[in-house]
Amino acid sequence: MDLVARLRAELGTGHVLTDPDLRAGYETDWTGRFTGRALAVARPGDRDEVAAVLRACAEAGVAVVPQGGNTGLVGGGVPRGGEVVLSTTRLTGLGEVDRVSGQVTAGAGVPLARLGAHARAAGLDFGVDIAARDSATVGGMVATNAGGLRVVRWGPMRDQVVGAEAVLADGRVVGSLVGLEKDSTGYDLTGALVGSEGTLAVVTAVRLRLVPAVAHRATAVLGLASTADAVAAIGVLRGPLLSAVEVFYDDGVRLVRAHRGLTGPFRADCPVYLLVEFAGDHDPTEDLAAAVSGLPAVVDTALATDEAGRRGLWAYREGHTEAISAHGVPVKLDVAVSPARAAEFETAVRAAVSAAAPSARLVLFGHLAEGNFHVNVLDEADGHAVSDAVLTTVARFGGSISAEHGVGVAKAPWLHLTRTPAERDLYAAIKAAWDPAGVLNPGVLIPR
Ligand code: MLT
Ligand code: ZN
Repeated sequence: MDLVARLRAELGTGHVLTDPDLRAGYETDWTGRFTGRALAVARPGDRDEVAAVLRACAEAGVAVVPQGGNTGLVGGGVPRGGEVVLSTTRLTGLGEVDRVSGQVTAGAGVPLARLGAHARAAGLDFGVDIAARDSATVGGMVATNAGGLRVVRWGPMRDQVVGAEAVLADGRVVGSLVGLEKDSTGYDLTGALVGSEGTLAVVTAVRLRLVPAVAHRATAVLGLASTADAVAAIGVLRGPLLSAVEVFYDDGVRLVRAHRGLTGPFRADCPVYLLVEFAGDHDPTEDLAAAVSGLPAVVDTALATDEAGRRGLWAYREGHTEAISAHGVPVKLDVAVSPARAAEFETAVRAAVSAAAPSARLVLFGHLAEGNFHVNVLDEADGHAVSDAVLTTVARFGGSISAEHGVGVAKAPWLHLTRTPAERDLYAAIKAAWDPAGVLNPGVLIPR
């Protein structure tokens, strides 16, 4: 029996897609930059079906690309050519919220927005939030160690995952969903899966920590003259109420305004915008207003406490990704440096991009409390030269070539910039220990 016939026998014909029209949505990433043909798309409905798919592919010697909501930005979840895409979107089980432990078990295919709503219905919340919340799945977020908008308050995915169940390339199941907060029994296998980008095993379900729900939020967008002023503001704003610090720039705001048909946020444009959110169990509006009034360099301020007003302010920040992609296929580089050096880095990265790609357009935005910039280069065909310039600059600052999107295929050639030969040997050994035949997501994270 050939592989497709065997997969059909295991999953049912309707869950093994070979028709090009049906495969298409799984074969190209969200930006349109990464694409390849899959042999088939397999859509297992439970853990045992995931194991069956992996066993069949391993025996046939066909590589597997695990895929969640296909919102990834580094080419780590779409085929390069000839693989089976294993879509986790049918693994949508969501357990009852355990209020005693403050945890919940979620299938890998549960979208973030559904998880958040489920937690809030039980009086808790999930600590990670990202703009792609409606499509991004829990499994994909674990695979990339997603960060997003609230890392300053609750940390990235790594801090939320207390257990995981995963299937090895040979079909064996490992891990636990009990959710032990204390377990010093040797190596942290769950920890190894977070950020592993589908190269070690296929995560089928995770046990997640929840955080206290906050009843009140207040949001401000500050207009500033420079990134240095924005960095200085973070030091003043840090405290128990701070729940988001997002930076963006005049050119990005212009793109968003044009794309969404907006005006504002101020009468006059500013070079730098800082979105700040305070959240707590009392109304934090006065705290936020007092904190902002203590900042020396604010040119203009817009403040909102009601849901519609807050959404309106967030739109300037969250509209960036869509507005950029509407302009064309961007070269996207997600990087981080120490936040204390973020202003110096901003100057350096602008210089590096204009030297490598003089006619390109650069749009920066990101999560400033973590020194995390999303470097978007538009109107530039040669992704390699500009990626090299940006990532080399990051390495000079002792930064990260992947802050929250993963390495994928996009940045694998630059892994050597921030991982030593000894560390890369360990990466290769870890990969070989989990997936000796190299079936899982070859070419992602570890260069071929
Ligand atoms: C964001 O912060 O909006 C996301 O990381 C997506 C992006 O970088 O475009
Ligand atoms: Zn981001």
